[in-house]
Amino acid sequence: MKVVICSDAAQTRRLAAQVLAQQVQTKPDSVLGLATGRTMEAIYAQLAERAEEQSIDFSGVTTFNLDEYIGLTAQHPQSYRYYMQTHLFRLINIPEHNTHVPDGAAEDVEAEARSYESRIAQAGGIDLQLLGLGENGHIGFNEPLSALNGRTHVVTLAQATLQQNAVMFDNDMGQVPARALTMGTGTILDSREALLVVTGAAKADIVARVIEGPVSALVPGSALQFHPHCLVLLDEAAASRLTQREAIFWQMQHDPELQAFLSA
Ligand code: GLP
Repeated sequence: MKVVICSDAAQTRRLAAQVLAQQVQTKPDSVLGLATGRTMEAIYAQLAERAEEQSIDFSGVTTFNLDEYIGLTAQHPQSYRYYMQTHLFRLINIPEHNTHVPDGAAEDVEAEARSYESRIAQAGGIDLQLLGLGENGHIGFNEPLSALNGRTHVVTLAQATLQQNAVMFDNDMGQVPARALTMGTGTILDSREALLVVTGAAKADIVARVIEGPVSALVPGSALQFHPHCLVLLDEAAASRLTQREAIFWQMQHDPELQAFLSA
């Protein structure tokens, strides 16, 4: 894992957009794994801005989103398909048929999970997987106790997740769908590169458990310790509970790859 501690959330988002933009510029037919949540909104806004300024071509890019609520159609304003259309897809020149989000309205959601997994394989696997982190340590919707080598599957959302995401549903936990489709932690670990972006003091404890704690199904994000190419971007607030801050700053100053990235 390579960890970068940014001075503030704005720098964290700028660097995340930079990683995504560079990926597409270097490999125009990239397969991107995408995430949702409030953290990602500003990252997508910056990416779209860069795409416009630098004429970044997304016409050959394929995307696979991590997850989707079961029972919401693409037209539902809280569905992740709707989120992606609003925050990214309509702002860049990606053909709609290249964008994949699990179909939460599928009649047979188990079959949809299997088909999603095979569509990822058919696309040649994910080059770069963008990830946020739930306050309970989930990645995608892999809740605590999910199999650390799981594939795309149907999950029952944790109470903590329903509480955390209620703000998007009129602050009413009862309106948040109880189940979701999510790539498995194993699917995520198969990505060639992973980019975890976390900001804010509310996630400082869970960030420390993900990065420094034992790998445990209680903290699904900790499985990223097994990922061979995982970059973690944090702001000061999210990094505040790490015990290895000195070592991280030393790496940031001495690792040639991080140096090149930070000075770009
Ligand atoms: C949802 C998504 C996760 C995301 C999390 C973080 O639960 N399924 O993939 O990481 O939100 O959300 P936020 O950025 O709003 O804190």
